[in-house]
Amino acid sequence: MPNPYLLLINGPNLNRLGVRKPDTYGTRTLQDVVDLVRETAQGYGVEVLDKQSNHEGELIDFLQQHGPEALGIIINPGAFGHYAYALRDCLEDIDRPTIEVHISNVHKREAFRHQLVLADVVQGQVVGLGTDGYRYAAIALCQLNP
Ligand code: DQA
Repeated sequence: MPNPYLLLINGPNLNRLGVRKPDTYGTRTLQDVVDLVRETAQGYGVEVLDKQSNHEGELIDFLQQHGPEALGIIINPGAFGHYAYALRDCLEDIDRPTIEVHISNVHKREAFRHQLVLADVVQGQVVGLGTDGYRYAAIALCQLNP
């Protein structure tokens, strides 16, 4: 049997972490975030498969391929979180424990960021706690699924 694994999904523009608006999104790069989640999950004997894409369909293809067998899913959908119904439907279909992460507190920002269309198909959300939010999500998923 393959080792248990989490999916770590990052949506559009998150490849620019560390460079893009560091006051808002911090100074960790995407690779730093992947390493952080991998180290955290490793402590529970859990592996991490990661995917970043600027294209909704690519994220859906990856989720359909690897999601059904995953222990859980950490997803920062970026701006897709505000309007991407196909991504929402994909997560509903896969039906694995999912935690949505937003680095910034989207509720304190522009009105268009207040709507989160994945909200009703995820187990929970970590919002506004910086890139540490990814680590908290990993711990939660590993502990929910011992
Ligand atoms: C974000 C918040 C989104 O509104 C924004 O489009 C992003 C990043 C966050 O992590 O705070 O790209 O998901």
